Amino acid sequence: MRTPIIAGNWKMNNTVSQGLSLVEELKPLAEGSRAEVVVCPPYTALHPVGEALQGTNIRLGAQNLFWQKSGAYTGQISGPMLKDVGCDYVILGHSESRGRFGVEEEGMTEDLSQVFGDTDASVNRKAHAAFEHGLTPILCCGETLAERQAEATDAIIARQVQQALQGFSADQVRQIVIAYEPVWAIGTGEVCESGEANRVCGHIRSTVESLHGSEAAQAVRIQYGGSVKPDNAAELLGQEHIDGALVGGASLKANDFAAIVNAAR
Ligand code: 13P
Repeated sequence: MRTPIIAGNWKMNNTVSQGLSLVEELKPLAEGSRAEVVVCPPYTALHPVGEALQGTNIRLGAQNLFWQKSGAYTGQISGPMLKDVGCDYVILGHSESRGRFGVEEEGMTEDLSQVFGDTDASVNRKAHAAFEHGLTPILCCGETLAERQAEATDAIIARQVQQALQGFSADQVRQIVIAYEPVWAIGTGEVCESGEANRVCGHIRSTVESLHGSEAAQAVRIQYGGSVKPDNAAELLGQEHIDGALVGGASLKANDFAAIVNAAR
C-alpha cells in the first residue's frame, strides 16, 4: 500500500508572517490525516515555518536546490542548508524552474528557459544531491500544450523520467516521489481529465518498471499536479496510479488545501 502524499507548492507566495498564519490555520485541519502532508514555502519562509511545524504531522519541503554543498554560487541554496532548516522534501524539475510556464504573462517575451534554466541533466544532478543530503526529491515531469497536441506526451514523459532517474538504485527509486504536472493544466483552471491523468501516471509507473524493476515501480509514489481543487481532488486521488497531489494555488488557502488532504482518505 502506498501512503498518499499531498504537497503544497506555495511558489513565490507568502511572506514569513503570511506563511506562519497559513500553517497555524492548517495544523488542526490536517491533524489525523491518512495522507502524508508537505508544505513547500519559498526559501525565505522555510526556517520559521519549519519551526512552527515541529511536533505536527506536516512536513517541510523546498522548491529547488543547487547541487554543490557550498561555495561561490551567488543566489543558490544547497541541500545541507535545506536539511539544516528542517526540510525533508525538495521539489525538482518543476516546469516553472525549467522556464516552461503554463500561462504566458504579458511582457514576458524572452526565452524563459534561459532565465529558469533547469534541464533533464540538471534535474538529475539535483536529485542526486538531494539524496546525498537526506532529502527526498519530488521530481516533476509534464508536457506543454504544443507537445500534447503533437501527440508527444508519452515520449516527453518517458524521457524526463528516465533522465531524472539516471544513476539511482532501485532502492532509492522506491523512495522518490514523481509528480506528473501537465504544463497546460498549471494555474489555468484546466485540470487534466482524471482518466487521462491516471493513464499518464500509469505510463510513468511502467517507465520506472522498465528501468528499475516492478518492486520499485509498485513502491514509487506518483502525484498529479495542475489545477487540483477541493472539487476535483477526490476524483483524481481515487485513480489507481495517482498516489497524491502537488497543489499550487489551492495550497495557499488552509481550508482548500485541507479539503484536498482529506479527499485522500
Ligand atoms: P496549480 O495547482 O496552481 O495549478 O499549480 C500546480 C503546480 O504547479 C504545483 O506544483
